[in-house]
Amino acid sequence: MQFFLDTANLEDIKKYASWGIVDGVTTNPSLIAKEGVSLEKRIKEIAKVVRGPISSEVVSNDLEEMLKQGRTYARWANNVYVKVPMTPAGLQAVKIFNKEGIKTNVTVTFSAGQALLAAKAGATLVSPFIGRLDDISEDGMALIADIVKIYRNYDYKTKILVASIRHPRHVIEAAKLGADIGTMPPAVLEQLVHHPLTDAGIKKFLEDWEKVKGLQ
Ligand code: E4P
Repeated sequence: MQFFLDTANLEDIKKYASWGIVDGVTTNPSLIAKEGVSLEKRIKEIAKVVRGPISSEVVSNDLEEMLKQGRTYARWANNVYVKVPMTPAGLQAVKIFNKEGIKTNVTVTFSAGQALLAAKAGATLVSPFIGRLDDISEDGMALIADIVKIYRNYDYKTKILVASIRHPRHVIEAAKLGADIGTMPPAVLEQLVHHPLTDAGIKKFLEDWEKVKGLQ
């Protein structure tokens, strides 16, 4: 399973990239707004740290404008993926970007039907938002199970990027289902590494080692 960081915070990206387990980064307009930087500046900065896919989202519902923005993003670095919304214009944009060799990530996806359309359009990635489904008392993980099954039935090449992850359990369940990628906030990555028994075990080993380390 590939791990992407779902943040535009450069310090966090540098920190977790140094762990050697960050395969890519997803951003969205809200994450960029949180950082108060220009999209171009931040995407270029991220591209200096992470070699894997970096998603940069178009901010228009108009096809021509989506194409213009996406082509611009794709010139910023060769690992930029253009994030397009799940709309008819978004699907059209995916087809055109495909022909131009520009990688895509179909975002704000909430149903298996939408994921099927994204695959048919030839999206490189599809981003089902599981946390937001859970937030409204729906079952985000059931959606991932449906998409995994559908894509396997037809051998679609579109990769399933599980988005809107809220906690480590989401990551584990998505991995059990065979989802290709999980994009997670830094806090979730931090939670994944820790376990109280690990902390207690290390502490005890260090304490016991102190008792014998000087012995010949
Ligand atoms: C990632 O591509 C999405 O933009 C992100 O995971 C959405 O997460 P949120 O529901 O926590 O905003």
